[in-house]
This record gives sequence, structure tokens and C-alpha cells, in this order.
Amino acid sequence: MASLKAQVLLDTNRTIAPISPLLFGGFAEHMGRCVYGGIYDPQSPLADERGFRKDVLEALRDQAYTVIRYPGGNFLSGYNWLDGVGPKDQRPRRRELAWQSIETNQFGTNEFIQFCSAINAAPMLGVNMGTGDIQSASALVEYCNAPAGSYWADLRISHGFRDPHNVRYWCVGNEMDGPWQIGHLEANEYGKKALEAAKVMKWQDPTIQTVLCGSSNDQMSTYPEWDRIALEIAWEHVDYHSMHYYAGNRNGDTPSYLASAIRLENYVDTLEGTLRYVKAKRRSKHDVFLSWDEWQVWYKGDPLNGNWTEAPHLAEEIYNLEDALVVAQWLNVFLRKSYVIKIACVAQIVNVISWLHTRPDGLLKQPSYYVFKLVSNLARGQALDVAVKASILETDQYGGVPALDVSASYDEETQQGAIFLVNRSITEPVLTELRWQDGKTVQIDSAWQLAGSDPKEANSWEEPNRLTAKPITAPVVDSGCASISLPPLSFTVLTTRAQ
Ligand code: AHR
Repeated sequence: MASLKAQVLLDTNRTIAPISPLLFGGFAEHMGRCVYGGIYDPQSPLADERGFRKDVLEALRDQAYTVIRYPGGNFLSGYNWLDGVGPKDQRPRRRELAWQSIETNQFGTNEFIQFCSAINAAPMLGVNMGTGDIQSASALVEYCNAPAGSYWADLRISHGFRDPHNVRYWCVGNEMDGPWQIGHLEANEYGKKALEAAKVMKWQDPTIQTVLCGSSNDQMSTYPEWDRIALEIAWEHVDYHSMHYYAGNRNGDTPSYLASAIRLENYVDTLEGTLRYVKAKRRSKHDVFLSWDEWQVWYKGDPLNGNWTEAPHLAEEIYNLEDALVVAQWLNVFLRKSYVIKIACVAQIVNVISWLHTRPDGLLKQPSYYVFKLVSNLARGQALDVAVKASILETDQYGGVPALDVSASYDEETQQGAIFLVNRSITEPVLTELRWQDGKTVQIDSAWQLAGSDPKEANSWEEPNRLTAKPITAPVVDSGCASISLPPLSFTVLTTRAQ
């Protein structure tokens, strides 16, 4: 095979949009061992005085999460938030229908708020649109955000929280298009219910921002009609429209899987078109942005039924190198589409469909942990409109795709930038020329790389550091040009500084 080549053309004046800090969010659901045994494990010697696992908190802080969505997920649609507040010994033990598990309610809204502040992330709460009604949605906003002097606010105060939590981001239900959802609705039924819920929630607190349920994925038979109908009804009362999607190499077709960004971008483009259509049809001055609030790789088939046990092991996905390279492309898509995607939450932050797994004695970090950590810590300022000319790789699912998937950021204030490069080839390095076209003098400060020789390589408890992001020699920039050979199956990050 002829050697693969690429040219990456950068210009710090050629920008896409500011990168919303909320793109680096996570999702925590009462499912399996995400909350119990993940975030919260008061019996563990590794827990702090509030019952939070200290090693988990540290890893979450290292990943610089900005926002956490909670409490579900499918769990949300059967949840009565009143079960999870007040004295712990009076909280009910319930059968939880979404995951057929036992919910002890020892962790609820107030513990979640404390957890968010422990990792410096903003809370994003969901209101139940399945078994829940607009009354309970309105009451939860009052409970969280109102000052003293009314029933629900005073209940919060009686639970030990004098100051309002000031929760800004609110999801109006979860995946209500899915027949699997408790209390599933048709698009027009959901649109009307969401409109009324969002309306009263904003009457409770006009500073909040609401997220409408979009299609659960791009394969739903109702997609994208669901999105159009719900948006047309609820448009003026919502600020974001949600997207969910779980990727997977289901057919064992690694070249196509490694081109996942193509599909992800198509999905965004369709919904962006839907947003524009609805805004025009409604003659609206209001804007609605996308919130990709469940995204992750998930396909390896771990159990989903808890058989009425507490904190069962559910969906504890093992991630390998090819999964990490899909995560890297996903993050590239967020940057390239930063003009319309303003919130994104990886599902989930620990144990359940997560790159972090706990055991009583420690924590395992899977390869995609390192990918997310690099991007969430380094992508700042504006996303750049990078021009990439690269050798083409053939795939069964998407035809010819460029060998490299690239995004970049530049922060005018600090003059620091970052370039994120995925080499999709399974066997070939890509000889890459980076060229800055803005005439600034630039240097590459550091370079990091996650790479391996087998797409199925993974970390394990026995070999936890097999795949991590390692520092590599930073290429030298000469006359606005640098070159680097990117190994096959690799993710490389270059940090830059203009002088
Ligand atoms: O994250 C796991 C589940 O996936 C969520 O509960 C649901 O919203 C989605 O189908």
C-alpha cells in the first residue's frame, strides 16, 4: 500500500464558534452501580464523610466535567423525587421498574447537588414526564431554586439546605419517544406536556434553561418527525433539544466503525436542519440549540435486568482501543459542530457504560478515559475550521473517508491552542504536514498520544496501564510548518502557543 499522507491547514482567524464549556458534561443515572458503588458507597474505606468515593471524585475532577445530568435516563420516568429527600432512614425502598432493581433512595437530589459541587460541575436535573405530572415538575423547581417562604422551598430548608441550589439546566423528561419508556408518549402528546411543564417550571424560575426530549437515536421509526413535531409545539419554552446515541462495532467491521464521525455529523446536520425549519415556520426570534446528553459506545451486551437486587452489575462495558478512537472522533464532532451543539453528556460517568470501573479496592481507567480527559482539559476558546486534505480509506458503510479526523481550538486570550488528530488507519501511519496560514509565529508546546497495534487492545485490572495517553516529542514548527508521522490506530493531541 502507498504510504498515507495528510495536510492539516490551520488559521486562527478561521473560526467556527466559541466552544461551549458544557460540551464536557457527564450523565449519572440510578442504574446498576453508577450511583451506589460508584459515586456513593458510604461503607467503603475509600469514601469521604459524605459517602462519596474519593478515588472516583478525583478521577471525575481530573476529567474536568462541567455539568452532570441526573437522575436518568429511563429511571427518571418512574421516579418520585420526594422519595430521595429528607431523613435517610425514612426514605422508601422501592422496586425500580426501568432496570428491575431495588432503589434504596439513600442518594437523592440534595446528595447529587453536594456531589456536583465536590467536582465543580453544574447540576442538570430531569423532571419525570412518564409517571410524573407538571405539578411535580413545578414543585421540584421550587424545592431546588426558590428562597425561603413557600411550601417546597421551606421543605428543602427543613432538610438542611437553607440556600437555594440554583439549578440552571433542566431536562423535560427522557427519551419519551421510546416504547420502552415508562409512560411513553406520541410526539404531539409529549410536545404539549413538555410545553406546559417547561412553562410552569420557568414561571417558578425564569432563569432556568430547559431541554426538550429529541429522538432516542437516528434509527427510531419516528425520527426526525418526532423532533419536528415536539419542537413545533414547545419551541418558545425550551432552550435545547436533546440527542442520544450509542455507537458500537456491531458487525465486527472496524474500518467502518472507525469512520463513525461521518454518521454522527449526519445526525447533527439533520437535527440542525429541523431546528432551522421550525424556527422559520414559527417566525421565531428564539433559538434552540442541541444538547447531546447521552453519548457513548455501548454494544457488548452486559445484562440490563437487576433481578430486584440493589446496585446490580449492569452494562459494565469493557472499552478497547477502537472504542477510544470513536470517542475521540465524537469529541472532534462536538468541536466542529460547536455552533449548534452547546451541551453534551457522556453516558455514564462511572461503572455503567463508563470508562471508569470501581472495585472495593480501586478504580480502573479504560483507554477512552484518557481521550476525554485530554480534550476536556485542552479545548478552549474558539473551535477552528480546519481544512484537512488526507489520503482516502475505503469503508463498507461510508465509502471513501479521509484517513485523519481532526478538530482544533484556539483561545485568543491566552494565545494557546490544541489540535486533536485521529488516524483511522488500522495498519498505516499518516505522514502529516501541519501548516499555519495566519502568519503568526507558533510553537508546539507539548504532544500526547494514545496508540496501539490491535483495535481490540484494552486495559484490565491485571494490566491497567496498557493503553494510556503518553507524552511524545513535540514536532518543531519552522516557517509556519511542522510535520509528524501519526501511527495507525492513534489519537494525538498537540498543544500550541502563538508568540
Ligand atoms: O444510559 C442508559 C440508558 O440509555 C438511559 O437510561 C436511557 O435514556 C438510554 O436508553
